[in-house]
Amino acid sequence: MNYPVWIVPHIGSGWVIGLIAIFHIMISHFAIGGGLYLAMAEWRALRTGRRDWFEFLPRHSKFFLILTGVYGAVSGVGIWFAIGLAAPEATSTLIHNFVFAWAIEWLFFLVELTSAAVYYYTWNRIPDELHLKVGWFYAVAAFFTLFIINGILAFMLTPGDAWLAVAGSGQEASRFFQAFFNPTYWPSLALRILVCVALAGVWALVTGSRIDETKQPELKADVIRWSVRWLVPAFFLMPICTLWYLACVPDSQLELLRLGISTVGPGSFSHVTRAVLVSTMASATILAVAYLVAYRKPLDFSFGYACAIVFLAFAATASGEHTREMLRKPYVIVGHMYSNAIRATPVLVRGQRISEVERFNRFGYLRDSIWAREGHDRASETSQSPSNDSASTLARGELIYRGQCAACHTLNGYRGLRRLMRERDLTAIRNILTMLHDPPEESPYRAFMPPLVGTDDEIDALALYLDSILHKDSSQTQSGGKIAGRH
Ligand code: HEC
Repeated sequence: MNYPVWIVPHIGSGWVIGLIAIFHIMISHFAIGGGLYLAMAEWRALRTGRRDWFEFLPRHSKFFLILTGVYGAVSGVGIWFAIGLAAPEATSTLIHNFVFAWAIEWLFFLVELTSAAVYYYTWNRIPDELHLKVGWFYAVAAFFTLFIINGILAFMLTPGDAWLAVAGSGQEASRFFQAFFNPTYWPSLALRILVCVALAGVWALVTGSRIDETKQPELKADVIRWSVRWLVPAFFLMPICTLWYLACVPDSQLELLRLGISTVGPGSFSHVTRAVLVSTMASATILAVAYLVAYRKPLDFSFGYACAIVFLAFAATASGEHTREMLRKPYVIVGHMYSNAIRATPVLVRGQRISEVERFNRFGYLRDSIWAREGHDRASETSQSPSNDSASTLARGELIYRGQCAACHTLNGYRGLRRLMRERDLTAIRNILTMLHDPPEESPYRAFMPPLVGTDDEIDALALYLDSILHKDSSQTQSGGKIAGRH
């Protein structure tokens, strides 16, 4: 735990990634599907001699260029910043494994951004056929970026046995292709392609809604109807592809869906029920608006309706992504690294290959921590343990909380520990920590929380720290950094 920990009050660092990611997905998938949309629309307009489409398409490609080239690109970089801060160890693992894939992806980004600009600026300036070729060129380059990033994203949920067998040995690169074309690569690619195609239609409805129906009724009706059709494949194939995807996810992770994350508040919907409800309702409403208004009465289709559809697509995307994220719990890379960066696969310690969990339990979690003050980390090793030094104990407890719990919990906000533990006194806190430390086989916590690691003394320091935050007013603990004895 030598990387700094990023404490984000109320929402937690995970949600910072989540919020940027949802925004980014809406745009990046449009960057892929939208390229295909533009090329196909231009091809269709040329073939059917619909010159009026050549007034709509340049406008749509301007919207496309700005949205993807500015907001898509910036939010993509935003994800890098956020994951680098929130999960540096996992980010490092991904870079070490996939640096070559990313290099290729960035090459395609460059091609993509350049050709999107060329495509927009050469409307009506170069021969139609050549312009269309630029469009296809863009579309193909954009799909290549998806083929690549999909391998890396799917890897986090299903790194595959071949890679896991060598994880931590320094030989990971020898399993590059197995890790890249991992068990969920193809179903997840299929799902993402469907999302790309659907989002191409959704965003085209936004620009399409702005065509003036009094001046160009025929164009508007045609654009709106044709765009609605782009939603159709997703609605029919999404359920099938989702089942295919889930069939490739290991049972241990599916357990999470069955279990439902509702350990508190009995009777509440399980997590999967909630996510499925949100995405089904959002999708059904999109379908209803798309068919009843857009398809049947395209001239009535206003900008407001288009925004409503974008918003619903946002909700569906968010719940889908949240589910994908939940499926990975308690790992960030399933089977290899827990969300709090502790490794489940063996590492080399003094010539011996043992898991980090074992190592921390044996030698102490704070032992090699550069954040622990001299003396704090070694308290457990000396017989005259300075446990009466309560400030230092609390400081050590806080470090453990930050290192091991803050990846998923906040103190007062999202999954707030104060709320989750408000009914527990020190003894009860000690009990639950003991259980987290060595969870029994049948414990539901195993499915979504990593084992708590450290020596008995460290676990007790965490218990004392957690007990102390329960009895403090929230303004003091909000920043998470005002514990006495910290520097
Ligand atoms: C991988 C993510 C993750 C990590 C890391 C994690 N937790 Fe949790 N924890 C969860 C989830 C998910 C829940 C369920 C929350 C809910 O039901 O709202 C939970 C629930 C809890 C609960 C309530 C359990 C109950 O049944 O009342 C406590 C207490 C708790 N966590 C303590 C901790 C402590 C202490 C740490 C650090 C040692 C920790 N957690 C680390 C994900 C995590």
